[in-house]
Amino acid sequence: MDSQAHSDRYGGTVSGVSRRTVLGAGAGVTAASLVPLRLEAQEQAPAPLQEAGPTTHISFQVNGEQVEMDVDSRSSLLDLLRERLALTGTKKGCDHGQCGACTVHLDGRAVSSCLTMAGKVDGRRVTTIEGLASGGELHPMQQAFIDNDALQCGYCTPGQIMSAVACVTEGHATDPESIREFMSGNICRCGAYVGILAAVSQAAETMKG
Ligand code: FES
Ligand code: FES
Repeated sequence: MDSQAHSDRYGGTVSGVSRRTVLGAGAGVTAASLVPLRLEAQEQAPAPLQEAGPTTHISFQVNGEQVEMDVDSRSSLLDLLRERLALTGTKKGCDHGQCGACTVHLDGRAVSSCLTMAGKVDGRRVTTIEGLASGGELHPMQQAFIDNDALQCGYCTPGQIMSAVACVTEGHATDPESIREFMSGNICRCGAYVGILAAVSQAAETMKG
């Protein structure tokens, strides 16, 4: 499955102005004289991907709401959610299907949204972390993560919770080993795995009722 590198949009070298050029100029000039350099850099910057390639028209449900829009045919579901629909609860970690931070539900099953093309969700149902709570009440899995201190920085947590819900609903939360196996695609750099296992075990019970 395709993935897209967006390093230019996240701090890569600005076209036409090298770091050395700016530092050399900055040694003997005022901040005001750097303004034209900055404007020149903006003019030379590549156009955003969203405005470039061919588009696909899609109609799908996200968190219970019907959405219809044109999307860049090369866009991932992750970028569609974060950059077009402002659903930034879904996180971008590796953007290569290796960390689980971008996990959402597609027709009720956990998928890596960075590896899912936006055009593929036409006619389907997407649920993100923003759509998990219901009627002002946290989902039992969200509550279990709080109860068990299953996070530290929290960056991996939305993806962990989406995978954890699927772990239970898809019948894999039968014992600690099965939970670990199902959740192994979700990396936590803070190492909150003990709490995560406890949270999934707790929610597996509460979700029965
Ligand atoms: Fe999708 Fe890492 S951002 S798996
Ligand atoms: Fe920090 Fe998991 S809580 S990466």
